[in-house]
Amino acid sequence: MAGRLHGVVAMDGPSGTGKSTVSRRLATACGAAYLDTGAMYRALTLAVLRAGVDPTGPDAVAVAVAAELESVTDPAAPAIRLDGEDVEAEIRGPEVTGAVSAVSAQPAVREALVARQRGLIGAAESGGGGIVVEGRDIGSVVVPHAPLKVYLTASEEVRAARRGAQDRKAGRAGDTVTVLADVRRRDRLDSSRKTSPLHAAADAVVLDTDALSVDDVLDALLCFVVERGLVR
Ligand code: DC
Repeated sequence: MAGRLHGVVAMDGPSGTGKSTVSRRLATACGAAYLDTGAMYRALTLAVLRAGVDPTGPDAVAVAVAAELESVTDPAAPAIRLDGEDVEAEIRGPEVTGAVSAVSAQPAVREALVARQRGLIGAAESGGGGIVVEGRDIGSVVVPHAPLKVYLTASEEVRAARRGAQDRKAGRAGDTVTVLADVRRRDRLDSSRKTSPLHAAADAVVLDTDALSVDDVLDALLCFVVERGLVR
């Protein structure tokens, strides 16, 4: 182990930058907890779809806020449960991916989830522990005091290729043209929404991963946490 992480590492950026893979590996390497906030937005979107209500309307907020969500922050076995059911596989499917930007643009949904996220982060930090948190607004909104904020980027084409490979590995259709169109659509929606749009925090380290392997990115992150005195 690289030493034990103390405090929060905020990992932001659009989809397909390798955020989840490197965040989980960083948490494992530093004996820290791991929180995938995108999974939380996805699980609430699944609740909205199951309820059959319009993801852009007020009924979606009512359903999302009432849903019972449980996030397991162990990087060896991260899990998300909706009303007691493990929904990890279902939240990665095309229905949820198609509707998640609409649900996550609703200010009341964000407010409810940010409060939950801060609770989970506080629990991980209590007693001197650490947590790696990935999402879109972690450094800018959820934990503005995080001692390390990283913003991962990559070109649309590289991100679409990675996303497609991930989909195919999970047994879902992952043709490049469709995936690229979806990456573009979600980037546009996530970056243009009024509440907490996707952007790098002013004090984030920006890392372009186009030419970097997962191991390269992990090495860079381990250097950052050591340089900042976050591992002991
Ligand atoms: O990281 P992901 O692709 O699983 O995230 C799914 C969606 O959730 C993404 O399109 C934007 C939204 N999201 C968000 O708005 N804020 C976060 N902190 C995490 C995800």
